[in-house]
Amino acid sequence: MLYIGNFKMDIPTENYIAELENIDKCGEELWLALPYPYLSKYAQNLERAGIVMGAQNVTSAVVKESTGEVSAEMLLDVGCAFTLVGHSERRKDKGETYGRIVEKCQQALAKGLNVVLCVGESREDYENGNTSRVLEKQLREVLTTLKEINYNNFIIAYEPIWAIGTGLIPSIDEIEVVVRHIKSMTEKWAKSELRVLYGGSLKANNAKLLKSADGVDGFLIGGACKKVDELQKIIKA
Ligand code: PGA
Repeated sequence: MLYIGNFKMDIPTENYIAELENIDKCGEELWLALPYPYLSKYAQNLERAGIVMGAQNVTSAVVKESTGEVSAEMLLDVGCAFTLVGHSERRKDKGETYGRIVEKCQQALAKGLNVVLCVGESREDYENGNTSRVLEKQLREVLTTLKEINYNNFIIAYEPIWAIGTGLIPSIDEIEVVVRHIKSMTEKWAKSELRVLYGGSLKANNAKLLKSADGVDGFLIGGACKKVDELQKIIKA
């Protein structure tokens, strides 16, 4: 299983990182997406602990005259192995259009960063039975446009927007249907079966249940990754 923590805009304290260095990964993969300013600061600690460090975003800009942007090369340079792309909090508030998401994926993958592409439907789409259609649109745009990339470095995180930070989760059946659908789309358009993660309100108390979902290769964890004991319980569940 692959567990990816998304620290969002919280500050990872030195105490937190020190505790995290002692976590028992139980032989699983643990990745952590930190805010940009903390990447250099904690790169060595995470490396020592065998935790893969990544960013929460990467630029789509190609020219150096892009004030305030952070490129894939910079992320690699400070020790990142991956970046999230297209998290719903960025699609919603930060003008992250389909075109921009494709460019980000293309550039990051071409430079050798792993990409975790976040997809997921809104509450309204979920209630209207449009989940499949929304996911198909989100994935088709990317998978049919990317060129000459290594799909081994590409992971999909299914995060229903209505489940993020709300305490609500889909049923196990619903997750299994969606994950199967995503995998069939990746086979069709990417000609390979990509890893698919689930994200949205995964906590210590529902981890065992969510881990029972067939086909899920891991989890993207927001709130619950910020407490090491909670994260530990999730990994052990
Ligand atoms: P959550 O966030 O685990 O707090 O619901 C998940 C995410 O936004 O990636």
